[in-house]
Amino acid sequence: MLTNETVVVIDFGAQYNQLIVRRIREANVFARLLPHSTSVEEIRKIKPKAIILSGGPNSVYSPGAPRVDQKIFNEGVPILGICYGMQLMAYQLGGQVRRAEKREYGPAFLEIIEDAPLFAGARKGLDVWMSHGDQVLSLPAGFKTIGKTENTSIAAIGNKERKFYGVQFHPEVAHTPEGQKIISNFLFEVAGCSGDWTEENIIEEKITAIKERVKKGIAICGLSGGVDSAVAARLVQKAIGDRLYCIFINHGLLREGEAREIEETFNREFQAKLIVVDARKRFLDKLRGVKDPEEKRQIIGHEFIAVFEEEAQKLPDADYLVQGTVYSDVIESGHGEASRIKSHHNVGGLPDRMNLNLVEPLRELFKDEVRRIGDMLGLPPSLVWRQPFPGPGLAVRIIGDITEERLETVRLADQIFRQEIKKAGLEREVWQAFAVLPADLRSVGVMGDERTYGSTIILRAVTSEDAMTATWARLPYEVLERISGRITNELDRVNRVVYDITPKPPGTIEWE
Ligand code: XMP
Repeated sequence: MLTNETVVVIDFGAQYNQLIVRRIREANVFARLLPHSTSVEEIRKIKPKAIILSGGPNSVYSPGAPRVDQKIFNEGVPILGICYGMQLMAYQLGGQVRRAEKREYGPAFLEIIEDAPLFAGARKGLDVWMSHGDQVLSLPAGFKTIGKTENTSIAAIGNKERKFYGVQFHPEVAHTPEGQKIISNFLFEVAGCSGDWTEENIIEEKITAIKERVKKGIAICGLSGGVDSAVAARLVQKAIGDRLYCIFINHGLLREGEAREIEETFNREFQAKLIVVDARKRFLDKLRGVKDPEEKRQIIGHEFIAVFEEEAQKLPDADYLVQGTVYSDVIESGHGEASRIKSHHNVGGLPDRMNLNLVEPLRELFKDEVRRIGDMLGLPPSLVWRQPFPGPGLAVRIIGDITEERLETVRLADQIFRQEIKKAGLEREVWQAFAVLPADLRSVGVMGDERTYGSTIILRAVTSEDAMTATWARLPYEVLERISGRITNELDRVNRVVYDITPKPPGTIEWE
């Protein structure tokens, strides 16, 4: 069943805006984030059930402050303004906004002073999270104040007839404990959504849409070893079966077991048409003697395209290229409807050169949604829940020369590290955990009665929300001890293990 319900979130630039989209989806309603420059005509095409005006860093009265197309208020669509969105709605409809005497940041208690469907189920008030420097001073015609806080006399507003509401607080953040309820109230009590968007029917919906789009002809898909391309490929395979060819290039820079897993899953289990290219030697040859990280990245990206093109030429002429672009890729690229190709991953630049049409079934999904869909599609949990892994793979975790021997060292150390973290039940608590092999760093050790002079392995484990910032994971000493013991025992060449305790910033997560 295809969902007809879309809620449009207009983006005014607050850092929480993706969260608004997520909260709506958690209420089983499909939502999209659109730039504030989107015209009412474009919005009309989507036939939104409701519109949310997001927060943002500006003041509505400052020159050049972003606005929403004024006509949006005449569409008869329910609107909820959040923070800047509320101020903007008040301002554009004739109310006044001014700088608050005191900037309000942090928790506050919202007293509900007027019954409103937005607050259905909440008693007299709510604990809310505030973050604003401006406030609504006077209301536009037809509006009433429905909530206030100690510092903000107009903290929630509503126009029942037009179904327009505004809240100065942030219902989307966890610090507003009943925020999800407020968002649901808006969706269901105010806007009359039915909430039929579930992950099961996303799968059906996607498959139907792919069948429509790829009615005939051939599609190819590069599998990177990661979850996005695997889920995209599986969806397309379900839609068009044998007309999909998957290409997996084993560049030899993946972690232990990953190449095998892709092959087994897609070949044996899903019986997909999978071409596995053993390009390990070719990549190693190209990388020989290369030490500079950016040069490594470029060589790998370039070689990937070259191998992919060569392989694609051996297949029947393809018309479509399947890519695992996810929503954060789209948003990070600045909303452009034009696709940004994940440069690091696999097939950057290909669609242009090969003149292929893109199929991107995951384009509007968040990573965790992709993962749950992957689970439902029967992909193995180790693949579905895989940590983020850089496109250039182990190449950027080996400082200096990349040789077969050094690859093996880092791969085995990495395997031990991850195995022990898993055994300790900490797998989902760390964002990334991996081993790094530094260049030319040897130290003296003693093994039995003998002096050793061996390599060092650096362990790096971080916790993070989004990879923009990170802190080192406080792994229990016993776990670290076990890992260190196993690495020095099981890897002849390694006689020392160190743990990286640098946060990001100033460090980065990867070493290169
Ligand atoms: P840094 O090291 O910049 O990494 O803190 C942030 C996140 O990005 C990943 N990363 C990459 N991913 N190609 C990728 O696809 C790359 O070249 C690359 N470099 C870093 C890194 O693993 C972390 O999750």
